[in-house]
Amino acid sequence: SQLETLVRALPKAELHLHIEGSLEPDMMFELAKRNGVSLTYASVDEIRAAYDFSNLQDFLDLYYQGMAVLQTEQDFYDLTAAYLARAAEDNVRHVEIFFDPQAHMERGVDFETVLDGVERALKEGEASRGISYRLIMCILRHLPEDDAFALMDVADPHLHRLDGIGLDSSELGHPPSKFERVFARARSKGLKLVAHAGEEGPPSYVWEALDLLQIDRIDHGNAAAKDAALLAEIKARGLTLTMCPLSNQRLCVTPDLNDNPLAGLLRAGVSVTVNSDDPSYFGGYINDNYLAIAEALDMSADEMIGLARNSFLGAFLSDAEKKKYL
Ligand code: HPA
Ligand code: ZN
Repeated sequence: SQLETLVRALPKAELHLHIEGSLEPDMMFELAKRNGVSLTYASVDEIRAAYDFSNLQDFLDLYYQGMAVLQTEQDFYDLTAAYLARAAEDNVRHVEIFFDPQAHMERGVDFETVLDGVERALKEGEASRGISYRLIMCILRHLPEDDAFALMDVADPHLHRLDGIGLDSSELGHPPSKFERVFARARSKGLKLVAHAGEEGPPSYVWEALDLLQIDRIDHGNAAAKDAALLAEIKARGLTLTMCPLSNQRLCVTPDLNDNPLAGLLRAGVSVTVNSDDPSYFGGYINDNYLAIAEALDMSADEMIGLARNSFLGAFLSDAEKKKYL
């Protein structure tokens, strides 16, 4: 269709992408073999069949299990290089990617091993593909505040290589308030701040992310559609939402794509963006996400253009850098 041709041709930024969630089953097998790690799966088909989730925690259990094949700097390089090659096919020009160092350090992988491999691929992608990047280190919210402070200590000598701090993993029972002091420290270091909020959690978690963590951008933010005052506050602050419709569908946040609040929020004047979250696990990269909502939510060509434009406006790029893309 014409809309499909348009979406594929539009330059885009991807602002919500967990690099570990781009680990494709083929690479999982390859790395398991290379590193002598045993998998509970016998085949790629068996892996895909296991990706049948009822909620966020269901997914997270397999996500942490799958990433155990990632062990060396080369593994993290290969993972990131493969994502950039795939993103380039979708005409992604700028990426802001998350990584979860705590999930690797608890398996005995050094922080530096992870950062070195991811960053080497990002630098190479910028040089060879012209894909600019920012890197956001996520804190696992199911772990204690002390662990997050310990991560900040380990990362401290490398902060010049990081652009932001994020908050991910199990949302329910782990409100943003749990990390108010950690985020205050990150803010004092000049880092950008983002947090997953209102994916499975209530509007009050989004309020906490705004008022206690003082975030610069909201990851997901679906719950904002349930609270008119919150919606007004997000607009007043000019905050961007990084939404992930296929993720919402697969994690049963909004099992029916027709019910996804993305189009409603966009039409209410919120700066909404479209992203793939964990594309290997949720069955689609960024263009698949754009095309799925275009169809399910009856969105126009102008709305597709607006979403792509929002992705650059909401990026952690300077005004001069944004100009190149807008
Ligand atoms: N939500 C929370 N934590 C995550 C996600 C997500 O969608 N993906 C990877 N970690
Ligand atoms: Zn996410």
